Amino acid sequence: MFDLKQVVRPNILSLEPYRCARDDFKTGVLLDANENTYGPALSNISEEEKSLELNRYPDPHQIDLKQQIINFRNSRPNVFLKDVIKDKLTPQNLCLGVGSDESIDLLLRCICKPSVDKMLICPPTYGMYSICATVNDVEIVKVPLLYPSFQIDIPSILKTLDENVKLVYLTSPGNPTGKLIQVKDVITLLESSISQNWQGLIVVDEAYIDFTEDFTSTTSESVSTLVNQYPNLVVLQTLSKSFGLAGIRLGITYSSTELAYYLNAMKYPYNISSLTSNVAMRATNIESGLKIMYEYVSNTIKQRQNVLDQLQTIKGIGRNIGGLDSNFILVEVLDKQGQPSNEVAQKLYNELAVANEVVVRFRGKEVNCEGALRITIGTADENQILIDKLKQCLAEINK
Ligand SMILES: Cc1ncc(COP(=O)(O)O)c(C=O)c1O
Repeated sequence: MFDLKQVVRPNILSLEPYRCARDDFKTGVLLDANENTYGPALSNISEEEKSLELNRYPDPHQIDLKQQIINFRNSRPNVFLKDVIKDKLTPQNLCLGVGSDESIDLLLRCICKPSVDKMLICPPTYGMYSICATVNDVEIVKVPLLYPSFQIDIPSILKTLDENVKLVYLTSPGNPTGKLIQVKDVITLLESSISQNWQGLIVVDEAYIDFTEDFTSTTSESVSTLVNQYPNLVVLQTLSKSFGLAGIRLGITYSSTELAYYLNAMKYPYNISSLTSNVAMRATNIESGLKIMYEYVSNTIKQRQNVLDQLQTIKGIGRNIGGLDSNFILVEVLDKQGQPSNEVAQKLYNELAVANEVVVRFRGKEVNCEGALRITIGTADENQILIDKLKQCLAEINK
């Protein structure tokens, strides 16, 4: 039986969350928080900024924003278990953070005892998991994704789980792989790990999930709607990608209400600024923001095909070794013998950035990514510049 109390660190289980007078009293003459009640030190303040009352601390709970986010996710439940989902998401399933990066750090501090516990990752994957784990003195254990499918190796993961591995990170769709991890595999792992009495959490980072979606469908590939079904499941999402709001820093953690309680108790009370929540409310609103997000996703998907088609015609560019579930592709750069080559890929990367101001990402040092460049899909104009410059640079390198 899974028991969250065996998973959360004892110091967090006994933590009393910070409380302020505003938790109990919100209106009237507010002289409780040592704010500057004259107002913000800004000239030419707009009506909108005025309405945000920026001289006041932001709302620590953000229930309205959480409600709007879950309205969106609940409207399209997970495709696999759509008929058996017991409980829809509620705001009590969520914890908001300063980007997913804060969520990653918060989970580590909630679950892993420094220099004792471990975190399992499946490379090639997002670099911040290892950095956050190292900062928290948590050892990383690696079980690479299968190649060339870039799907999870379930038997190897299950074999590696022991009493000190407390977190397993899956990235779906993956970075830099751009491949959705099959939902049935995530569910197998959730169920099998509980069957072997493993006491830990499976975290699915869905930073790019909206790029896999058919928004006309009534179901979704996202596993965020399954957190009330699986107490060992945690899902991370962010407004940095499909919503085009990397600058506001908003990450969303979905989990059982019990775990969300501990995460909310741990977080800094005012981590979500009033500016951030104002913009996030507009972006996740069904009438306005969501329609724009769908449009951006649909444009990105069309452009992704266009970029791929054009790249495939360029001599020296090989396969797209990643998937088509994200807003980037992972293409091989070849040497003169037609083999993927880190040397040529790195030259191309440098030449593009230094001489042409076109910046992509060299990923050739990642496991099973020899010679790979990760290319974000831009606007039609940006993509055309990329293609033209890349063609020129490769011709120059291969002369
Ligand atoms: C898989 C993955 N997770 C999380 C993030 C970071 O998200 P945020 O901007 O919300 O911190 C990224 C950013 O590239 C990412 O690729």
